[in-house]
Amino acid sequence: MPSIHQTKIKTNKNLTILSIESSCDDTACAVVRSDGTVLAEQIYSQKEHVQFGGVVPEIAARAHLSHLSTLVKKTLTQAQIEWEEIDAIAATCGPGLIGGVIVGSSFAKGLALAQNKKFIGINHIEAHALTVRIPNISPLQVNFPYLLFLTSGGHCQCIHVTNVGEYHRLGGTIDDAAGEAFDKVAKMLGLSWPGGPALEALAKEGDENAFTLPRPLYGRAGCDLSFSGLKTAVANLLTDYENTDTLPRQLAADIAASFQKAITTAIINRLENAIKMAPDSTLLATAGGVAANQYLRKHLLSLAEKYNLPFIAPPMNYCTDNAVMIGWAAIEILHQAANSHKIIDDISLLPRPRWPLSEMSERFEN
Ligand code: KG4
Ligand code: ZN
Repeated sequence: MPSIHQTKIKTNKNLTILSIESSCDDTACAVVRSDGTVLAEQIYSQKEHVQFGGVVPEIAARAHLSHLSTLVKKTLTQAQIEWEEIDAIAATCGPGLIGGVIVGSSFAKGLALAQNKKFIGINHIEAHALTVRIPNISPLQVNFPYLLFLTSGGHCQCIHVTNVGEYHRLGGTIDDAAGEAFDKVAKMLGLSWPGGPALEALAKEGDENAFTLPRPLYGRAGCDLSFSGLKTAVANLLTDYENTDTLPRQLAADIAASFQKAITTAIINRLENAIKMAPDSTLLATAGGVAANQYLRKHLLSLAEKYNLPFIAPPMNYCTDNAVMIGWAAIEILHQAANSHKIIDDISLLPRPRWPLSEMSERFEN
């Protein structure tokens, strides 16, 4: 990792991190400590996209720019701490919508330079992967190795987490992310964006066995996922309805329930393979917006129980994008760096739209 700012950092103490997240449509800021205390947390979920029925990258970047400075000020006021108490400033540097990532990381770097703090650039997926380790977030202490199913609007992958910086992608979607599939099917059914929660609510009124929809890659080796065929199958059920106003509610509910069953069955089948691919996993964890889905959670819990694994799903506000996970990832990285006698400062790290997890061990290498 590039490093031009080699100031010392106290890594054996309770670190305090100011963190920023801006990789999609949530502008978020937090102050987090090594013992898991969240001193302050602010989030603005951008409403600017609702009229477009999906996140518009350019609008997201501009919205981050408009809201970030106020949000950071509010967070600092809420935390009631002085700058001297902050050890480092962390921000998402990728992967994500690059405009937003540039806004958040540049803002954080500016603050770091002005306040003479270290800047830690965080991989957004790494932050999701480490969230279950935040003290007090889970009923159990989460030790390595564990298996994470990350499922959001932009990402869908199975990760074997063996240490800080060591993330092995066992498989992932070869087309849409699961959240994207929920959102697109919800749109076909005339539901408002974001579609996932609305689809789950509608599915409760429907018959999940009304339609047999494809379960992509079911029974195949490996744990890759695919959802585009399932989405097309739903579109084919709706060819008689030119606009959603004419779609009978019960039919929409039956389709929603059948879709939710099909996507869940496919995911569980793929994850069963992932468990077999990483037999040393001590637990199954999930994260990402789709992990809010109660139907999916119920089936993930049953799968974990089948293999005698605890199942951990963080509270919803830490499943979806947030800045606490960014601050926590920085804490894990700084402690790990101290163990490997490394000094980390990412002030010259450039924002990245893509940033494979396999590169995250580089910062601890000699
Ligand atoms: O993690 P997240 O907040 O943002 C990113 O995409 O990074 O995830 C948002 C996604 C959206 O696609 C949304 O429709 C989906 O999570 N989602 C759900 C549910 N709640 C949110 N999908 C299915 N069921 C839900 N209850
Ligand atoms: Zn995310």
